[in-house]
Amino acid sequence: MTTTAPITQPTPRFELDAYQALSEDVLIHRISQVRERMGSELIILGHHYQRDEVIQQSDLRGDSYKLSKIAAENDACRAIVFCGVHFMAETADILANQPDNLQRRDGQRVKVILPDLAAGCSMADMAAIEQVESAWNELAEVTDTAEMTPITYVNSAASLKAFCGRHGGIVCTSSNAESVLRWAFQQRDRVLFFPDQHLGRNTALRMGITNQQMPVWDPFADDLGGLDEGAIRDSKVILWNGNCSVHQVFQPEHVHQFRKQIPGIQVVVHPECCQQVNDLADESGSTGKIIETIQHAPAGSKWAIGTEWHLVNRLKQQHPDLEIHFLAPIVCMCSTMYRIDLPHLCWSLENLAAGTPVNVIHVDAETAKWSLIALQRMLDVS
Ligand code: 13P
Ligand code: SF4
Repeated sequence: MTTTAPITQPTPRFELDAYQALSEDVLIHRISQVRERMGSELIILGHHYQRDEVIQQSDLRGDSYKLSKIAAENDACRAIVFCGVHFMAETADILANQPDNLQRRDGQRVKVILPDLAAGCSMADMAAIEQVESAWNELAEVTDTAEMTPITYVNSAASLKAFCGRHGGIVCTSSNAESVLRWAFQQRDRVLFFPDQHLGRNTALRMGITNQQMPVWDPFADDLGGLDEGAIRDSKVILWNGNCSVHQVFQPEHVHQFRKQIPGIQVVVHPECCQQVNDLADESGSTGKIIETIQHAPAGSKWAIGTEWHLVNRLKQQHPDLEIHFLAPIVCMCSTMYRIDLPHLCWSLENLAAGTPVNVIHVDAETAKWSLIALQRMLDVS
């Protein structure tokens, strides 16, 4: 979270503590009052992993890709309250306040607000800019980095997106990783993919790249990411040793158990799950694709879903005609998304309406400029 510009924020008119004791009904009522007052100037965006009571307050919901597009294209609003995690709010700030948009709005910025600044992403934290820069420099000693495209999963700090922008690289989301990888191989021979090794591996395997061609770079190893020079020279995709703590809970035995217990069950998983789980699944895709798959499923069909618990639970409630199971025997949820609750949402909205916005995410101009280049490449290919 190092790329948020140090902007001066006014002292909040309202303190968070006062909101923690309010009932859900009162919070919902007060949220709706702010929405009425601000009208089309305000958009509340919600990622699919948010808890139910928060997602119900969102004007628009989506996966990371859809939410990025909304932020890039929405011209009417002056504030986006982002019920998601930090990298999503940073991306929204970069896209909503890109130079063309600012010009159309006579220089007026869209304020992007993350209701709780502690809503980060543990996977994004697994690749720090210093580590990526040092990996790049080390790789330059054994291979030609002018022939290597850096790709960052959108689940990363803006500084990593800027790194990709500066080095001819690109951003991907879980819904467009394959088109992005294809684009990368049209430019250069090799890819450095961070921070999620599983999304990188699952996508590249589908394109015919083998595991032997995908060594894993360990940012904590003493030398060359723990790899030998030959492995790097023979590689097509160098994967960063990062993962999502939520999706790594899903294991091949969970798929085997469901198939044994419920004949005919179909399994759909997020590509952040490991290779073995992806290989065993019937379908794999972003949260948006998982939702679409379930929406089109024939009545009576049976599904085990490998992604965050709140989304699976919501799908279960929305589709009583289907038999839906959570793929793991334990509840695993994104604890950082979960930090966004009604008290934080109401607190941030009332301060925004009072002219004392809190938790404004403002990526510094230099980082935003280079990040936008990598994000725009992604929007152009997908
Ligand atoms: P989506 O791209 O499906 O929104 O996934 C984002 C994410 O953080 C999943 O863990
Ligand atoms: Fe990050 Fe995993 Fe949470 Fe997605 S589910 S935001 S990758 S920690």
